[in-house]
Amino acid sequence: MSSSQLLMPRSLNKRPSTVPSLSSNTRGHQVYIETFGCQMNEYDTELLRALLKERGFRFTAQGEEADVVLFNTCAIRENAHNRLYGHLAEFKRAKQERGVVIGVLGCMAQNLKKDLLEERPFIDVLVGPDGYRRLPDLLTDALESHKRGMAVDLSESETYDDIVPDRTEGINGWIAVMRGCDNFCSFCVVPYTRGRERSRDPKGILEEARRLADQGVRQITLLGQNVNSYHYDQWDFANLLVGVADISGIQRVRFTSPHPKDFPPALIEAVAQHPHVCRHIHLPLQSGNDRILERMGRSYTQADYLYLVEAIQRKGPIALTTDIICGFCGETEQEFQDTMHVMRSVEFQAAFVFKYSERKHTIAARKYPDDVSDPVKGQRANRLVEWQKRVSAKKNRSLTGRSVEVLVEGHSKKSQSQWMGHSESNVTVVWDRSETPCPVGSLVSIIVDDASPSTLFGHLVPADS
Ligand code: SAH
Ligand code: SF4
Ligand code: F3S
Repeated sequence: MSSSQLLMPRSLNKRPSTVPSLSSNTRGHQVYIETFGCQMNEYDTELLRALLKERGFRFTAQGEEADVVLFNTCAIRENAHNRLYGHLAEFKRAKQERGVVIGVLGCMAQNLKKDLLEERPFIDVLVGPDGYRRLPDLLTDALESHKRGMAVDLSESETYDDIVPDRTEGINGWIAVMRGCDNFCSFCVVPYTRGRERSRDPKGILEEARRLADQGVRQITLLGQNVNSYHYDQWDFANLLVGVADISGIQRVRFTSPHPKDFPPALIEAVAQHPHVCRHIHLPLQSGNDRILERMGRSYTQADYLYLVEAIQRKGPIALTTDIICGFCGETEQEFQDTMHVMRSVEFQAAFVFKYSERKHTIAARKYPDDVSDPVKGQRANRLVEWQKRVSAKKNRSLTGRSVEVLVEGHSKKSQSQWMGHSESNVTVVWDRSETPCPVGSLVSIIVDDASPSTLFGHLVPADS
């Protein structure tokens, strides 16, 4: 058997005999899917599409044409829940008028389970992140027999390794390399919605990356709730990252989200040295105060975090971005100042700032009162956002007159006469179209003329200069 045969995933086209065939009645039903939340959910939607397509379902981008409306949901903060309820209300009418089948999938389905089904009788199907293989059958039952159903058991082994995701074309692709999380940070719902940590066989991952490269993908993002705790036999995350970055045709590899506790020197080295691994690390801090970090169950102190940042920065310019939670249980102004202190000393390229949102079932919800008022959370968040805007603007402006390497992604959102792409640090770059062609998926050099906190504006350096 050749090595390429060994690496081939099981073909989706050959339906195992155990899978019941779909009645002609259901074949061809149109499905509309809306995806909320993180990139992992985007990836899961690609898996769902593959599973449904294989069973004869078709897809529509218009909710009003659909026979089945699916929401792949997020539960990370309360506003994620509220967004879903808004959308559900819209489709409840479609259910009354046209009898569409409504399915809620993903993290919220897993988190709320029966409550959601009981509180909202117009939901037909509820499927958590480990139950997607059951979705086609549950939808068939709902369409043919008006049966309601749910699949919300978590699995210790499901990685969907044999499913070839059904992706839309483009130069960006993502691959889930591990699923679940065992960290149980006290604020976070993910260990409850996604279950225990499990890593995929690297053979399947590398095969998927090669297939993406063959399809024209130039940038791959490796995904996991705790991506750098990936391990499979002798493989750790650094090996995997290098393995994917070595694949011919792949220009850039990124990864998200890593946890600061799993950063061995080999991983820093891979980011610093490998020509196809982007010199950018998203390194969620959450808080800069030791008492709050301890309450959060993050397993590092401010000093540990800063030590890691220093180790990274010793390797030359590597962009750092972060996530911060403001107003976690008991956070005082003084403790918030410690977060501000880390922001000042590190000067991140970008920061995603969230107000703490209590999640049912989590350790924090059980142990600590959510006692920082909403206005104080908001005010702290605004102070961080304002600070970060100034730092991002300063960093971006410091590039004026310098050349940055950009992966061409297409027209800018605002104008057909401009191109758009991202720098290695993941900053959006926009430049005017000129006579010189900029093929989508190519790497070009752009001289920066101007900058805002989030965007670099520039002009193309002709290839022969
Ligand atoms: N696995 C990643 C986090 C994924 S969730 C990590 O460990 O960093 C993305 C971000 O959402 C988190 O980094 C955190 O900043 C934020 N977040 C998670 N739970 C939250 C909550 N209950 N309230 C507010 N923000 C939260
Ligand atoms: Fe949530 Fe912590 Fe796991 Fe990230 S590492 S997904 S914050 S529990
Ligand atoms: Fe949301 Fe689940 Fe992702 S809670 S952030 S969709 S892992």
